[in-house]
Amino acid sequence: MSALKIKKNELIPKLFWQMEIGADEAILLKPSPQEKMVGLREYFSKLNQNLETETIVGKVSSDSLRSRKSVNGFDSSIGKLKETSTISNVENQLEAVKSLKELRVALELFDGCSLKNTANRLVFSDGNADAKIMIIGEAPGKEEDKIGVPFVGQAGQLLDKMLNSIELDRSQTYITNYIPWRPPGNRTPSQEEIGIFKPFIIRHIQLKKPKFILALGGVSSKALLELETGIVKLRGQFHFKDFGLEQPIPVLPTLHPAYLLRSPAQKKFVFADLVKLKRALLAL
Ligand code: URA
Repeated sequence: MSALKIKKNELIPKLFWQMEIGADEAILLKPSPQEKMVGLREYFSKLNQNLETETIVGKVSSDSLRSRKSVNGFDSSIGKLKETSTISNVENQLEAVKSLKELRVALELFDGCSLKNTANRLVFSDGNADAKIMIIGEAPGKEEDKIGVPFVGQAGQLLDKMLNSIELDRSQTYITNYIPWRPPGNRTPSQEEIGIFKPFIIRHIQLKKPKFILALGGVSSKALLELETGIVKLRGQFHFKDFGLEQPIPVLPTLHPAYLLRSPAQKKFVFADLVKLKRALLAL
């Protein structure tokens, strides 16, 4: 951390924060020149070394989606809703969506999920659309639903602190959720809802073209990676995933800030994951 740039009155809360997240040794956020020289894949595998789980290279399969039941969709002109269409139709129609702005409109118009009926606002994204890091949470909560911006409640404030701990802020990241509408009472999204929004989050990733994805929590990590492994095992490891872009995208699962609010002792694991992300970012 560049302490010299920080004023004395700012330093104390930062030191408390470091204690809270369990920082007990000074680690350079920047990768060494030697690390920078190795290829990116090798660099990631170095970063992943000594962890129990293996790096997974996979491709998002749509077969599981194809067999699902019909849902209401929208047609490629975005404005016109169709009575019924299958999820694979939705996938095909999303190919005609060419910008993040259009994707937001497509989601606004999509009537294929009842979450829209109980939520107040679509929660699409926040941050910088040109950022290298795309952060994907689970689903909006009460505060997010009120104003239509992701991660503005207590968990969001913790997310801001987490980003600050690696010298980043919202303007250097792009933040969204797997599910764009608040589930009633903040319940966990169902498998059906996760299936319905899968083509949308994949298109979101394709249009955003991030260099890295930080997946927050088990729901978004497992759904994005199409794995059943629990978040405790998945976290802290870059998983290369093919989302139909030129190259697979490294996805780093970590614990959800809402979970950290309930279990603050786990913050040290998230801090370790974030340091890994920062080092990877600086190695680009
Ligand atoms: N939790 C999430 O996963 N997303 C939000 O936007 C807020 C809380």
